[in-house]
Amino acid sequence: MNLLEHLAQQRRLVDSELDRLVPTETTPPETIHRAMRYSLFAGGKRIRPILCIEAARAVSDVQDGVVPSACALELIHTYSLIHDDLPALDNDDYRRGKLTNHKVFGEAMAILAGDALLTLAFQVLAELPATGERKARLLAELATASGTVGGMIGGQVADLEGEGKPPDAQLLETIHRAKTGALLRASLRLGAICAGAAEEQYAALSRYGEHMGLAFQIVDDLLDVEESSEALGKTAGKDAAQQKITFPAVYGLEASRRMAQEECERAHQALALFGARAARLHELADYIVRRKS
Ligand code: IPE
Ligand code: IPE
Ligand code: MG
Ligand code: MG
Ligand code: MG
Repeated sequence: MNLLEHLAQQRRLVDSELDRLVPTETTPPETIHRAMRYSLFAGGKRIRPILCIEAARAVSDVQDGVVPSACALELIHTYSLIHDDLPALDNDDYRRGKLTNHKVFGEAMAILAGDALLTLAFQVLAELPATGERKARLLAELATASGTVGGMIGGQVADLEGEGKPPDAQLLETIHRAKTGALLRASLRLGAICAGAAEEQYAALSRYGEHMGLAFQIVDDLLDVEESSEALGKTAGKDAAQQKITFPAVYGLEASRRMAQEECERAHQALALFGARAARLHELADYIVRRKS
């Protein structure tokens, strides 16, 4: 099966599990469940859950709770997007090719939909039929990656406070590693934990996740400059308009492209000890850097 077919199959697997995990639109209070499902099923690429599943496969054929864990990552990611788009943050009107959550449901319900997805992510992990120790590791990793110290929220704070500041290479790397890199790395780590990875396997997947996390956000910055809103499904050209600290703003387009490629090569190298078992992770690294949306 080629990569695109494989990705489509993995997306179906993730989507059907998400459908099972999130209350139906007719469950009271209906509005919040409609708002949660609106953004969740708007057509995300599901990169984080797929990385989680592939990390587990690279380690072992025996995995415990990897699909729900993968879904917990997507729940956190979707919450972060709903809040990222709010007028108080990036103030975006489009996401995943549709109007943003607050444009359809209003700001109050969008804030609550984000809160609800975040809360549900931890409920899903807490209800896994895994051992207590494994569950605790999954919960701690997801919480840390989403949190304020080097995690997603910390990165979002630095991103917002960086608006209008002079482009600074050190600050740029700190922002990107936190706002996007932490959850990307957590995706690999959750998969590794579910598959019972040995310490060196966990460390190798973490390194792959760190390099791909940075590469992922460099490419997101490049796409904001180079692609159309139609292609992206979100408003293009917003970073420059909001004077965000981005790779193109600090290094220019050509050097940014090269740096994304270098991170990708380091990610490939990190997989050496898995041999052929990591074939899909190798393909995913190239896909993430070459994607056009
Ligand atoms: C967009 O993430 C936000 C960033 C962290 C850069 P994705 O590009 O994975 O968005 P979806 O999930 O496919 O919509
Ligand atoms: C958002 O980064 C990262 C998150 C934690 C959601 P961006 O603000 O660059 O994401 P897009 O470009 O709006 O998807
Ligand atoms: Mg943002
Ligand atoms: Mg944004
Ligand atoms: Mg962006």
